[in-house]
This record gives sequence, structure tokens and C-alpha cells, in this order.
Amino acid sequence: MAYAAGVDVGSTQTKAVVVDEARRIVSRALTDTGANVTRAAEGAFQQALAAGDVREEEVEYVVGTGYGRYKVTFGNTQVTEISCHGRGAVQMFPGTRTVVDMGGQDTKAIRVAPNGEIIDFCMNDKCAAGTGRFLGAASSALNIPLDQLGPTALRGERPVKISTTCTVFAESEVLSWLGRGKKIEDILLGVHQSIAMRSAGLLRRVGVEEQVTFTGGVARNVAMIETLNAKLGLQVNVSEESHYMGAVGAALFALDHILAGRVPAHPRQGA
Ligand SMILES: Nc1ncnc2c1ncn2[C@@H]1O[C@H](COP(=O)(O)OP(=O)(O)OP(=O)(O)O)[C@@H](O)[C@H]1O
Ligand SMILES: [Mg+2]
Repeated sequence: MAYAAGVDVGSTQTKAVVVDEARRIVSRALTDTGANVTRAAEGAFQQALAAGDVREEEVEYVVGTGYGRYKVTFGNTQVTEISCHGRGAVQMFPGTRTVVDMGGQDTKAIRVAPNGEIIDFCMNDKCAAGTGRFLGAASSALNIPLDQLGPTALRGERPVKISTTCTVFAESEVLSWLGRGKKIEDILLGVHQSIAMRSAGLLRRVGVEEQVTFTGGVARNVAMIETLNAKLGLQVNVSEESHYMGAVGAALFALDHILAGRVPAHPRQGA
């Protein structure tokens, strides 16, 4: 059996996915990227192999993606994360025409053709306000674990208006609302709404065409899904694989090489 793998080395978390020749996901793994990017890539890949009971020599092609894709030293080639999120999203939700990837560092809006090719994209690289980092700042300011941010925000009834667009000031603004006696859930609902508003703006720059698929780790956050749906006036697609979508796309690009017979003559390093 031949397998293909994708390793998405994000600024915050590293994801690895193994697929079989029928494009089925065999296994996945997730680890914090941390300071040693190469080690994170190798660690996630090995974890995914173990989870799927796949031997390394059975993996014929590996594609690296994400900001640390060139640190996937055992990979055969690299593909940008924009292309990988587009490909993964179209595979999972074939009606996808727009993708919103919210990761740890930035948010990307991507327009895709029916075959998954990228038509246009846009990202908020200048300021991290629309992203997981902003949520991370709110999480540490309020001392609420990341996975509780969404459920807590959904209990909010009177969202505060967050005015800052900069992560550096997010923490102090959140704390000042707390000092003014606002409820944590209302502050958090305000934080999510402000991110949703800016993300919707980013999406409109590439053109919002249905269906919209939400990818990246922030897609795990229920309040982000709800506030984004409300701002866009539609229901975004989300799945269990949303966090892994870049790695899924990378694995599918890797599989293309195998199916086309473009497998390197020499086995991969370590295989
Ligand atoms: N269980 C969870 N609940 C809520 N949010 C989560 C959860 N797990 C991760 N996240 C969010 O997802 C973010 C990481 O997402 P992701 O792995 O897509 O980022 P990345 O690919 O490393 O970043 P980038 O694409 O910007 O380089 C975290 O910063 C956090 O905000
Ligand atoms: Mg990413």
C-alpha cells in the first residue's frame, strides 16, 4: 500500500496528515510548533505514522506547507499554505468557492475555482488582530483556556465594543472592560464579533462566493463560527478536519505525485 503525507508547519501549531491512494485520511497528528521547527515537523509526522499504523517506508511522497515548510527536511517538495488550504477545503466540501483560514498568526481569505485552483487571496499580515493571537491575548488576560473561549462567549448577551485592532493592546482593553465591571462573557462575545467583522472585511476583498469553508485552528471555536456566520449572513462549512485542512491539501498534492508516477528514484531520507 502506498501512502502520501502532508505536513503543515504553522507559526503556532504543526499538523501532519497521512492519506491512502483512495484519498482517504488514514491518520492525523497535531503538535505545538515551538522553537525547534524541524523537530516539530518530524514529531508530527512520526505521530501521524504511529496513529495510522503506517511504516515510514510506505509513505512515498511528503509535501511540506505552512510558514515552516522549508524546515520539513524529510519532505520531497513544498507547496504554499494558500494552495493547500484551497485544495483541502475543496476536497472536503466540493461546493467551496471561498476559504477563510484563521490560524495562530494571521487570517487568510482565499477564492478558489471549482477544481481547487487559487483565483485570488488576501491576508491580514500587517496586524494580527483578526487572528488566533488576538484570542490568545484575550485568553491569557481573562485566564480562560483557549477551548473555553467560544463556549463562554456564547453565553454573552450584551457584547462590549472592542476598539483596538492590535494584539499588543488587546490585553489592556480586555482588562479595562473587566475593570469597568463588564461580564467576562460579554467581553469575549465582543472580542469574537470584532474579529468576525474584520475577517468578513478581508473576505469581501476577495469576494464572498458561496460556499464558504472555514479552516485553521480557530475553526474549532464555536463562537467564531457563529459570529462569522452572523456577519456574513450565511453558514460556513466546518468539519473535524478544519484545523488539519492545510495538511490535508498538502497530502493530496503529495498523492498527485504518486498517482502520476512522479516518485523520486531514491527513497526519502530515513526511509
Ligand atoms: N481547541 C481549540 N479551541 C479553540 N481554539 C483553538 C483550539 N486549538 C487551537 N485553537 C486556535 O488555533 C490557533 C492555531 O491554529 P493553526 O494551527 O491553524 O495556526 P497555524 O497554522 O500555526 O498559524 P498560521 O497559519 O497563522 O501560521 C491557536 O492559536 C488557537 O487560537
Ligand atoms: Mg496555518
